[in-house]
Amino acid sequence: MKLGFIGGGVMAEAIIAGVRRANLDADITVGEPVAARRATLESEYKVTGVAENSAAIDGADLIVLAVKPQHIDGVAAQISGTLSPDQTVLSILAGVKMHTLGTKLNHGRLIRVMPNTPAQVGEGMSAWSASPEVPDDVREFAGQILDALGVAIYMEDEKYVDMALAVSASGPAFVYVFMESLIDAGVLLGLPRDMAHTLAQQLIIGSGVLARESGKHPAELRNLVTSPGGTTAAGLQIMEDAGFRGTVVKAAVAAWERGEELGKGSK
Ligand SMILES: NC(=O)c1ccc[n+]([C@@H]2O[C@H](COP(=O)([O-])OP(=O)(O)OC[C@H]3O[C@@H](n4cnc5c(N)ncnc54)[C@H](OP(=O)(O)O)[C@@H]3O)[C@@H](O)[C@H]2O)c1
Repeated sequence: MKLGFIGGGVMAEAIIAGVRRANLDADITVGEPVAARRATLESEYKVTGVAENSAAIDGADLIVLAVKPQHIDGVAAQISGTLSPDQTVLSILAGVKMHTLGTKLNHGRLIRVMPNTPAQVGEGMSAWSASPEVPDDVREFAGQILDALGVAIYMEDEKYVDMALAVSASGPAFVYVFMESLIDAGVLLGLPRDMAHTLAQQLIIGSGVLARESGKHPAELRNLVTSPGGTTAAGLQIMEDAGFRGTVVKAAVAAWERGEELGKGSK
């Protein structure tokens, strides 16, 4: 398959790296305005970098839109007249609906993906959906790309892709704030910063792997470390008093709302 990327930023690189890691048969061209960025991608991933997006689209089976949502109008103006009906556009733009993409690009074969940054190391979470016009072979190839980034869930209803933004796409930032807070707590108690960092980081990795491998609900895993009258129960009570759960829920809902705003064209 021939892949054409519009935008060669962080997420584009994560996807390209996944394609190369999985040894998928893909000829990749990247449309990216910054020459230094094109040179980096060319040397690291055997792609062709081009300054003109039209050159990235030319002959591509799958075109990956990987610019910020605020740039969609400019990109649409450049490419809408040049797409052929047998090309598929895969968008990773936060919030921008298939209907909006279809109207702006005047195009029917559309895939929407909500990836996340752990895709950079093959531990990503991608939620995706496709329009009925996308042929099976392209769906299969898109699925292979997303599998190469980590775990992928196909969602028949596109609205779930927007909701996934709030949980798994913005989620890494929420987890990193939690990680930072634990590091600061360790330092406050007197731990050397590098030790606190290792403790907090491995705690989060290990807790995630345990949740996945055990298949247990987080509440069950939490109970396993919360002995009556013990140290963890004392800490959890402070989290409950401070409204930790409600704060996390509000943060995720705000991320979803911001995605909806961006999707409607707000800056
Ligand atoms: N990062 C995440 O965790 C995440 C997760 C899920 C979805 N997304 C979505 O992924 C998309 C890309 O995010 P990102 O983090 O990869 O952003 P990014 O690193 O800023 O990448 C965007 C790239 O596109 C380039 N660009 C801008 N205008 C262009 C144009 N007209 N033609 C071609 N290239 C152009 C940018 O160049 P300049 O730097 O010169 O502007 C930049 O290199 C966003 O829509 C975001 O909503 C991101």
